[in-house]
Amino acid sequence: MAINTDLIKASAQLIAPLGSKVTEYFYNTMFTDHPEVRKMFPAEMGVQAQRLFDSIVYITSNIDKPDALVPYLQRLGSGHIKFDTRPEHYPIVGNSLMKTLAHFAGPAWTKEMAEAWSEAYNLAASVMIEAASKSMDPARYQPISAK
Ligand code: HEM
Repeated sequence: MAINTDLIKASAQLIAPLGSKVTEYFYNTMFTDHPEVRKMFPAEMGVQAQRLFDSIVYITSNIDKPDALVPYLQRLGSGHIKFDTRPEHYPIVGNSLMKTLAHFAGPAWTKEMAEAWSEAYNLAASVMIEAASKSMDPARYQPISAK
């Protein structure tokens, strides 16, 4: 299954000049649709918060470079344990991402673009989720049995 990263890059370019407006829309959408995740994020959404959105765009655009991305996504996934991120949160971020892209791309947004983004996002999310579940696996922390 080849993900159409050219299409992702082309649509990412549509929204890039809009800057922080896009990120604001993303968080507003997510917190309106899913108020339960609001408390996971800082009260003041500063530059730090923008990293999540920018990073998703970067990752999805480069999803065809797994050698560079997989180790990064594994670290990111394990790193998200400290933010209390769970597997069920990933579709929430994914849906808000898709709504945001569709909103800003307007009539330029196509079914093919939506498919490419969602395939790339789901792939990235699955690597992060798997890495987090391995890091949380209690079996990994069992004391080494005495021989
Ligand atoms: C593909 C999916 C995701 C990517 C690429 C991503 C990426 C990032 C990045 C790069 C940061 C900046 C801090 C750091 O480098 O560790 C971050 C922070 C954060 N992420 Fe994610 N994230 C994803 C999914 C999620 C999900 C599903 C949640 C839960 C709703 C979440 C919650 C958070 C929180 C709470 C922070 C800290 C925000 C802050 O303190 O300002 N992330 N994420």
